[in-house]
Amino acid sequence: MANTTSKQWILSDRTTSLPTISGPKPTFTLSTAELPPLQEGQLLVQVRYFSNDAGIRTFISCTVDQERMYVPPVPIGAPMRAGLLGEVLESKSPDFKSGDFVFAGSGSWAEKIVVNAADVQLTPPLPSGLSMTHYLGAFGGTGLTAHVGLLHVAQAKPEHTIVVSAAAGATGSMVVQVAVKLLGAKRVVGIAGGPEKCAWVRDYLGAHACVDYKSPTFKEDLKAATPDEVDIFFDNVGGPVLDGVLARMKRYGVVAVCGSVATYSSDEPMALRNWFEIVSQRLTLKGFFIFDHMDKVPEAREALIKAAAEGRIKVDIEQVVPAKIEEVPNVWIDVLKGVNKGKSVTKLIA
Ligand SMILES: NC(=O)c1ccc[n+]([C@@H]2O[C@H](COP(=O)([O-])OP(=O)(O)OC[C@H]3O[C@@H](n4cnc5c(N)ncnc54)[C@H](OP(=O)(O)O)[C@@H]3O)[C@@H](O)[C@H]2O)c1
Repeated sequence: MANTTSKQWILSDRTTSLPTISGPKPTFTLSTAELPPLQEGQLLVQVRYFSNDAGIRTFISCTVDQERMYVPPVPIGAPMRAGLLGEVLESKSPDFKSGDFVFAGSGSWAEKIVVNAADVQLTPPLPSGLSMTHYLGAFGGTGLTAHVGLLHVAQAKPEHTIVVSAAAGATGSMVVQVAVKLLGAKRVVGIAGGPEKCAWVRDYLGAHACVDYKSPTFKEDLKAATPDEVDIFFDNVGGPVLDGVLARMKRYGVVAVCGSVATYSSDEPMALRNWFEIVSQRLTLKGFFIFDHMDKVPEAREALIKAAAEGRIKVDIEQVVPAKIEEVPNVWIDVLKGVNKGKSVTKLIA
């Protein structure tokens, strides 16, 4: 192997607040690692793009006991785990050659990684000149979660009123589009932070309405936006937003619990004033994880790629941020702060 070292970000603290790379207790520290020699069946991969997923926050700290986590947390002292797209530099696998582009769902924040060929997937060129970065967003974890979560887990139907939180984020922006443009749902209402994001969810993504959860009139605005109440709530955030929507759910409605980003960087217990709505309205809460529905993924990916190639859904809703390895955690932390509209991707530059 030519250059055998790589800078990488190590998890150094299980903060329960917003992660940081500075101060007395940084969450991550940068180190330089000697890469192990390639074994049979392994690849040396140069990272090109990182996927900035809100969900990897739960690999650092979470209220769920470590042994009960859906995916094991990252050990202290280990490289921070992240999905990525990379280029094969060297291959000791008959299935890959140098120059191939691959997706690694359990990669790490590093310049180069050594991976087992069995743990990555080839990312063939997409039709209509669509960027391969969409393998991280619209046709990757977030887009697939939106499609499978809405149509299969929540069983959304055209006659439904559907509400989605973090509607301007990577997952939510795809839920809105699948609901409006692929399902043709009767009414689709986004919830997002601030008037500018809400205007984008309505005017660009096509939601019938969008409600600003940061507004003091959130409760009244949500009521006005859901005159027939809510059949399906696709929830990405939990907290006060979930509490507000519970009070608008229709009898026998379904809450598809995708994530709870409002709780990821907080020690506070999640307060739900409207919990009894679940009893009163006979609601169903369906927590789900996309990895349990892998049988639905090929069909969902094909449908999303076809819809994008035909211009029925918009996938130019990604923010590709060029950054050196030194800046990689901060670009991801921006997602937790809500800086992104659509999918956030880091383009690793030298
Ligand atoms: N279950 C699964 O299989 C699965 C798979 C993928 C993702 N997820 C989950 O899906 C959710 C979205 O992930 P993503 O990667 O697509 O991230 P994202 O939506 O692109 O980014 C997170 C968004 O959350 C919003 N947010 C942050 N703090 C908030 C708060 N306190 N209250 C309300 N909204 C807040 C921000 O938007 P605003 O500016 O609008 O606040 C931010 O843009 C996460 O909960 C993640 O864990 C689950």
